[in-house]
Amino acid sequence: MSETSTITVVQRPKSNTNILQNKLPVWVTLQLTDACNLRCKMCYEWGENGAYHGRKLSKLDKDVVLRVIDECLPVKPYFALFGGEPMMYPHFEDVVGRIRHGDARVDVPTNGTFLKRKAESLIEIPPNRLWVSLDGPEEINDAQRGENVYKKVQEGVETLFDLRETKGLKEPKIGYTFIVTPLTHLYIQGFFENCLNLEMVDHISIEFQTLQRPMSMKNISIYLNAYLVFRKRRVLLA
Ligand SMILES: C[S@@+](CC[C@H](N)C(=O)[O-])C[C@H]1O[C@@H](n2cnc3c(N)ncnc32)[C@H](O)[C@@H]1O
Ligand code: SF4
Repeated sequence: MSETSTITVVQRPKSNTNILQNKLPVWVTLQLTDACNLRCKMCYEWGENGAYHGRKLSKLDKDVVLRVIDECLPVKPYFALFGGEPMMYPHFEDVVGRIRHGDARVDVPTNGTFLKRKAESLIEIPPNRLWVSLDGPEEINDAQRGENVYKKVQEGVETLFDLRETKGLKEPKIGYTFIVTPLTHLYIQGFFENCLNLEMVDHISIEFQTLQRPMSMKNISIYLNAYLVFRKRRVLLA
């Protein structure tokens, strides 16, 4: 296994007896790779104050990942594939396939920039849910997540959605995660009202940027105000 990529297993132990007898774990998060092709300003990994700069890039060993999946499959936990950008993991399709063929469920957060390129394989062996990150209308999103990211992501979503519909499939479900920051907090409602075709959206999540030093009372106030309106919301529409 690599030095820094992580496997998180969530358990709610009821006794000291065998974990599998208690149908544990319930969630397994695999940070497949630390690598990412974007440098979103607010990101706690690769952003302006991110923790990954200057660090040796790492990814999980494929055999270890598949073994963890096989060992957990008997209790059918809910898997999450995390990153960095999980779709940059060289064995991404193998991992999704192993989970789905084992009849378990898997969520994938993604920056969405690989959706177009991977549309065929995402339809062939679909994760259950994709959480695509976009943080506002084009100009605002790209100020936070990088030039031309908005267009690329939306093109990818449309390609994937069209392919899924053409084939009459229900998965992967496609939805968005919006991160509220001092840059994006005024655009939440406008984004959901004007930038999305809600017919194509299965779920949304509105989440707040984690605050870390240096922080200002102004930023905290912005979050408090936005929080009163939106709170942390994860909505499943389908
Ligand atoms: C670390 S990313 C990994 C997956 C993928 N690269 C992406 O951007 O969706 C997971 C989620 O965390 C969000 N995120 C990044 N920095 C954050 C921060 N400082 N506070 C809260 N969420 C953050 C991202 O926007 C994304 O929705
Ligand atoms: S795409 Fe995800 S991991 Fe990469 S910099 Fe942006 S938020 Fe961070």
